[in-house]
Amino acid sequence: MQRNSTAVSAVVWADNELQLLDQRVLPQAVTYLSCGDLGAVADAIRDMVVRGAPAIGITAAYGIVLAARARFAQSPDGWKPAIEVDLQTLAASRPTAVNLFWAIEHMREVIADTDGNPESTLLAAAKRIHADDIAANRHMGELGAALIEAPCAILTHCNAGALATGGYGTALGVVRAGFAAGKITHVYADETRPWMQGARLTAWEMVQEGISVTLQAEGAAAHLMKQGGVGWVIVGSDRIAANGDVVNKIGTYGLAVLARYHGVKFMVVAPASTVDMGVACGDDVTIEQRSPDEVLCLAGRRIAAQGAAAWNPAFDVTPARLVDAIVTERGVVQAPDAEKMAAMMKNI
Ligand code: MRU
Repeated sequence: MQRNSTAVSAVVWADNELQLLDQRVLPQAVTYLSCGDLGAVADAIRDMVVRGAPAIGITAAYGIVLAARARFAQSPDGWKPAIEVDLQTLAASRPTAVNLFWAIEHMREVIADTDGNPESTLLAAAKRIHADDIAANRHMGELGAALIEAPCAILTHCNAGALATGGYGTALGVVRAGFAAGKITHVYADETRPWMQGARLTAWEMVQEGISVTLQAEGAAAHLMKQGGVGWVIVGSDRIAANGDVVNKIGTYGLAVLARYHGVKFMVVAPASTVDMGVACGDDVTIEQRSPDEVLCLAGRRIAAQGAAAWNPAFDVTPARLVDAIVTERGVVQAPDAEKMAAMMKNI
């Protein structure tokens, strides 16, 4: 099993099947789950076997290959209208990461142009989405690292690494490039309640890579910044609105407020497929609400007082005015606003 996290793949197409690294059990176990049909893929996205906006989009694209195989076998003449149900099933799996809807739409266009057995054409399209994402991440890594002055410690939230993408990572891609350039000396990682993506996934990736990492409870961020412990907060995103508002893992907004107060810079790193020019501002984005049990329990055991309720929004919205830089593979937008975002999205 591959152990180097730059090379580790959350999403693998092998033996005509989709294999997903089961992120629910990392880092205790490195196990791949085989998905042979569309239903299994949608379940894996919903249950967070695979998570992270770009990785979800790539997974959906491969899922559509499986759906097309099954629909074509059932009806070589009627597979195109029939597969629409599968696209809807995928779209209903998680609501916030726009990369899911972007990938479905892209594959829908390929389907419209495909005649005969669609499997090889759709597989090529899914592989291209996957490869393009890795290339974008590497480019963003260089662009983001160029903004950082050495020596610099950074704070990140959730996991926006190789595990959340096709490979290399968005926020952690900048960390990788910045560390290689000798600019980033240390990574602080929020543990990221309730799913612990920071403790379980970001820390694992950093340790594999030999990048020094210190975990902290989210509540420690203000104290860290007050002590001058970090120069940048670097995060990924699930959806960036047309005005530059950033939707990301719950807790990101709080970090942006703290960063501005303490004079710490705030960088968002995401591919252009995460930018949704169809939503004017972040408040128009559907925020996923997950089960209260994720907050009330830890590792399957109830820790909260019986009778207490829990509120569990998975994402929040950081207003563009709190963001110093949005980095995409199309370029860097400093102090983002609607005009600059539109110009960047035209820049192909
Ligand atoms: O609920 P998750 O783990 O899918 O949330 C992931 C995040 O919020 C990431 O920060 C975001 O998707 C960017 S991943 C490159």
